[in-house]
Amino acid sequence: MAMIQWFPGHMHLTQKAIAERIKAIDVVVELLDARLPGSSANPMLATLTQGKPTLKVLNKQDMADPERTALWLAHYNALPGTRAIALDASMSAPAKALLGACHALAPNRGGLAKPMRVLICGIPNVGKSTLINTLAGKRATKTGDEAGVTKLEQRIAIAPDFYLYDTPGLLWPRIIVAKSGYNLAASGAVGRNAFDEQEVALELLDCLKTHYPTLLEARFKLQGVAQMADEQLLEALGRQRGALQSGKGVNWQKAAEIVIYDFRSAVMGRITLETPDEFAQWLATGQKLDAERQLKKDAIELDRKIRFKQVPRPASRR
Ligand code: G4P
Repeated sequence: MAMIQWFPGHMHLTQKAIAERIKAIDVVVELLDARLPGSSANPMLATLTQGKPTLKVLNKQDMADPERTALWLAHYNALPGTRAIALDASMSAPAKALLGACHALAPNRGGLAKPMRVLICGIPNVGKSTLINTLAGKRATKTGDEAGVTKLEQRIAIAPDFYLYDTPGLLWPRIIVAKSGYNLAASGAVGRNAFDEQEVALELLDCLKTHYPTLLEARFKLQGVAQMADEQLLEALGRQRGALQSGKGVNWQKAAEIVIYDFRSAVMGRITLETPDEFAQWLATGQKLDAERQLKKDAIELDRKIRFKQVPRPASRR
């Protein structure tokens, strides 16, 4: 199976803009999807933000498994210079928690002479516009856009001494963890032409039958899902929901879309696709494979240079 990759564009502009802005920033707020915190993080951000204190906001907590959200909060709160809170769009006053956490991370900032300057970052669809709108108390930005639409940088005053800067453009991670690609696609963060719904649905079912079998059984009126193969499960729920094509059995595409849609709209219940430990293992495997790929690429490049005499042939190859 190919790794899901997606390049929403404007990345270089965004990186440049963050690098310029970061000097006058006190706290970086990274919005994560509480259903897939590890996969929705951007590993490049830490380099770009040069070790500034970071607040991880696990957004959309209303759709995530509260027990797993607690694990992620504990994981992030144990990291140096990092705090974490969970939020969702239904909260009437998320500003209080956010302001409190930022002040704890940069206690020397505050008051009109030294206002708190916060940069807010997050991958597409994580809920950045929604949160900014709520914080600003008015419709400051557009929400509900197709993943991948750029917005201009803007400054929003949440309190007289608290400024929020929105990141212009998009910062999208290079996906080196195969599972992250599937989880991001399932969540709706990846543009719909960049992945195969059936592959994503099978991966999603694999996770759901292992960790949330009762939710899956209740939603699709099935039994013994934990013992079923992923394909068998997709077929069974496709039949159950009438995703059929005349004379040819189950309509796999339709069945896959149903699973993905049900996950995105949280109708099965509150689900989180990864724990900190699981994600750490995926990341270690992904990094190892990525390093091996890089070594192979370097060897091919060296061979090419030797062939075109751009570098001398090493003594070991003479
Ligand atoms: P972005 O700026 O980061 O790209 O994301 P945006 O705010 O546009 O939000 C993306 C989708 O996520 C929106 O749904 C939004 O309503 C939903 N959303 C944001 N925060 C939360 C949350 O805390 N909980 C839940 N359950 N959903 C949240 P949409 O279907 O794309 O648009 P619409 O339903 O708002 O029209």
